Amino acid sequence: MGGLSMGQAFVQAPEHRPKPTVTEATGIPLIDLSPLASGDAAAVDALAAEVGAASRDWGFFVVVGHGVPAGAVARATEAQRAFFALPAERKAAVRRSEAEPLGYYESEHTKNVRDWKEVYDLVPREPQPPAAVADGELVFANKWPQALPGFREALEEYVKAMEELAFKILELIVRSLNLRPDRLHGFFRDQTTFIRLNHYPPCPSPDLALGVGRHKDAGALTILYQDDVGGLDVRRRSDGEWVRVKPVPNSFIINVGDIIQVWSNDRYESAEHRVSVNSARERFSMPYFFNPASYTMVEPVGELVSEENPPRYDAYNWGDFFSTRKNSNFKKLDVENIQIAHFKKSAAA
Ligand code: OGA
Ligand code: NI
Repeated sequence: MGGLSMGQAFVQAPEHRPKPTVTEATGIPLIDLSPLASGDAAAVDALAAEVGAASRDWGFFVVVGHGVPAGAVARATEAQRAFFALPAERKAAVRRSEAEPLGYYESEHTKNVRDWKEVYDLVPREPQPPAAVADGELVFANKWPQALPGFREALEEYVKAMEELAFKILELIVRSLNLRPDRLHGFFRDQTTFIRLNHYPPCPSPDLALGVGRHKDAGALTILYQDDVGGLDVRRRSDGEWVRVKPVPNSFIINVGDIIQVWSNDRYESAEHRVSVNSARERFSMPYFFNPASYTMVEPVGELVSEENPPRYDAYNWGDFFSTRKNSNFKKLDVENIQIAHFKKSAAA
């Protein structure tokens, strides 16, 4: 990528290309989580209501006062920069394959158009049992780069902090749905959470390509750290316009994934988003994808459905869904990749 001229594989269809100017999304809720530390019940209830409203209206919000130590973030982002600065052959040494989906990858496609990025994926817990999926087994073993001092330690420290934050946010969302606070915790006992390091090099044609094409995150929750460059665009629910999520120092961006959409029976919807690139500055981001066990059958939570509000989705197996999505990402397929819409019940006749 980088200095090379841009190939046809990266070119988005005209209707999906970014506009030269993007609206800055000042309306994305900014939520201060520090009341959580106080333990004050009324303050936590108020916070849950705020998180619920943000999940309903945007599916996206920015959190500060989250308690993640700044040092942990700094060490992880330094490790990330050091990794992507390695020569190509050292990154290729930890390259992912179809059967071993973790590690380095530079030719991911979103909806069949190549993304202008390189990534490195790892799981927080090892060893994980190989996940049995419809078409075989996937081996989730981390591929640690050799001779990169501090890399592993920095990321292990970071994922621990992310897990703590993920459970706090899950609990706030669950409270906002009037469920028992630990109602969804069990799904994460054998979680398939992973963390991704993203690097978006400067792009010679940012008007034609995207860092990540438009998509919704398939898992439960995403916690994203982004640097100060900017480029994450969210499709605003009210008017369908793409708006830029402004970088806020010491913050994380939270987005509701497809699984929370299904669990909540559409009370909260996962929002479409994408990454725009630019010709001047490289950009780094780190999403933490908080995902349930592969054997989870994803379906609307029993307490949230009733005769008046029947389940809107058929149950589906998360492991099968995820591996199908991964495989269609892996190579350019002629089919649209799998979406939760495929499990949406058709309106009653
Ligand atoms: C993703 C994603 C956003 C970003 O990797 O799923 O949406 O800003 N990333 O890198
Ligand atoms: Ni995403």
